Amino acid sequence: MDFELTEEQSLIRQIARDFATREIEPIAGELDKKARWPTEIVLRMAELGFLGMVIPTEYGGAGLDAVSYVLAMEEVSRACASSGVIMSVNNSLFCDPLFKYGSEWQKREILAPTASGMILGAFGLTEPSSGSDAQSMQTVAERQTDGSYLLNGSKNFITVGPEAEHVVVFAISSRQGNRPSITALVVKKGQPGYLQSPHDDKLGIKAAHSCTIYFDNVRVLPEYVLGTDGQGFKIAMSTLDGGRIGIASQALGIARAALEKAIAYAKERKSFGQPIASYQAIQWMIADSEVELDAARLLTLRAARLKDRGVRHAAESAMAKLYASEMSTRVTHRCLQVFGGYGYTAEYGMERHYRDARITEIYEGTSEIQRIVIAKSALG
Ligand code: CAA
Repeated sequence: MDFELTEEQSLIRQIARDFATREIEPIAGELDKKARWPTEIVLRMAELGFLGMVIPTEYGGAGLDAVSYVLAMEEVSRACASSGVIMSVNNSLFCDPLFKYGSEWQKREILAPTASGMILGAFGLTEPSSGSDAQSMQTVAERQTDGSYLLNGSKNFITVGPEAEHVVVFAISSRQGNRPSITALVVKKGQPGYLQSPHDDKLGIKAAHSCTIYFDNVRVLPEYVLGTDGQGFKIAMSTLDGGRIGIASQALGIARAALEKAIAYAKERKSFGQPIASYQAIQWMIADSEVELDAARLLTLRAARLKDRGVRHAAESAMAKLYASEMSTRVTHRCLQVFGGYGYTAEYGMERHYRDARITEIYEGTSEIQRIVIAKSALG
């Protein structure tokens, strides 16, 4: 597989790097500390076309490829993991399924303003008692005689939920024996029966607000059904195949931020009369982190290349997400150790990277779920 970047891909990476370094990095610590939604960053990401990167321009997107998306995601997440996941949710979890499964009306009326960043979208799969076992959901969409659905239930940990104009909600529309038949509905915020909790108080990615959304007899008109009745679970799974590539890129960005800081610090900080970078204990931490970061990037780029080619990439996305997220936890742990006591304080932002890395092993499928997906593919 060729990992040489095209001129366009290199340019996108440079634009993302300049934007992230100049405009996001200086305020990332404050966003985290205050758990403040980054309105100004979201507006700039919209201007740069970063909120619908792979969506064709006729539907409001930037018309780029998944590799460009991965490169930009790493740069944004290196500066601020919260901004990274906001970008990832809008691109991968909302715009992607709308483009792949949406009707022409949905693409013009809902996808286009979301891909251009005028409004945002979110993804509602998880429920209070149904996370890894997604088919065990309790939310119900009862089909009415006029073709509309009556939606009842709740979805939690919905990243971007508080700010999203629409949420793709997965709900049980009928049962065939013991198996639920799941339908995907695009639900507009603010209609009767649609309620939201205050945003969650979390360990990391504090500026990327998430919340619980409650549906109490919310009426969803037939034109808001995504795909066909009963197709919802496959829509959720194939969407997550792409989403996991986004989270792998976020994990890369977080780890790179920590490693770059640790390398600079190790060259400056002296102990026993020498820069700590001269000690093998530190060099080995840096060497191991470099290797793991590169390996994770190659896995992520491979998954993105397969997605661009339209080849099934469920296992490769799971491998990229599993390895990159666990790598990010290991690398931020080591880099914090390089900083010693200063790593534990907020002064250098190392503790932010350490906290932010941890979520990448949990959302869009835990590491344990990624291993199930990989094992299923290997065992056939
Ligand atoms: N693409 C298309 N179809 C797929 C698929 C894929 N990648 N994976 C499975 N399917 C299909 C199967 O072929 C099967 O179809 P048939 O019924 O026709 O045979 C159907 O889906 C059911 O498949 P399984 O029997 O494998 O399903 P399962 O119940 O055993 O679950 C699982 C499989 C992999 C564990 C799945 O439940 C899963 O991925 N769980 C994790 C959920 C998750 O990632 N949640 C994240 C929430 S979103 C989030 O985190 C966002 C955020 O905050 C940023």
